[in-house]
Amino acid sequence: MKIATILGSLNKNGSCAHALNIIHDEFRKSGDIEIITIVPNGFTLPFPGQSLTNSDEDKLQKLISEADGIIITTPEYHGTFSSIVKLIIENLGYPSVLSGKAVSLLGVAGGSIGAIKSLEHLRSVCSHIGAIVLPGPVSIPNVHSVFDTEGNCLDKKVEKRLRTFAVELVTYTEKHICPEHALEEQVREKS
Ligand SMILES: Cc1cc2nc3c(=O)[nH]c(=O)nc-3n(C[C@H](O)[C@H](O)[C@H](O)COP(=O)(O)O)c2cc1C
Repeated sequence: MKIATILGSLNKNGSCAHALNIIHDEFRKSGDIEIITIVPNGFTLPFPGQSLTNSDEDKLQKLISEADGIIITTPEYHGTFSSIVKLIIENLGYPSVLSGKAVSLLGVAGGSIGAIKSLEHLRSVCSHIGAIVLPGPVSIPNVHSVFDTEGNCLDKKVEKRLRTFAVELVTYTEKHICPEHALEEQVREKS
């Protein structure tokens, strides 16, 4: 099984990255999972309408196409999800390669209300382009007191929730996405 994780921040050592580290650790424990890490700093992505000779749009689309499940993380910025997440989505094609994919959402926020608004907005956009957005997104409020500067999680409940969140995507993908692929391969082999 291949799971792609999208870091929705340009801060490679920020809160989204810290939360993703725990999720990656849980995937490694689960065994047979290939993790495709998408860190936006490593991609040159055009804005819609802009043409770049060195664009990584195709590379990004290929990585997401190969994934059985996807986690999108975002910080809450001004009451919504980050512009880098929007730029990534805009580079996933129209129609989008996210269509039909199982997608789980994780938001972090500096404030006490959490990333509720970002997650609602992001869910709406992902659903609009045909992704299967799993219920139970994770919102981490007051995130600067949840992780220390080394990225250690200081809140056991948050860590537990992140690990469960990772397992939930794996379970869903195993039950509903991977059998579909197997069935399709069988049908193709026969024809
Ligand atoms: C431009 C900007 C806007 C922000 N807007 C909000 C906000 O609306 N609500 C909130 O709770 N936190 C807000 N924050 C705090 C971020 O959510 C928080 O710093 C988060 O840890 C950033 O994630 P990162 O470390 O992965 O980049 C904002 C931070 C920045 C830099």
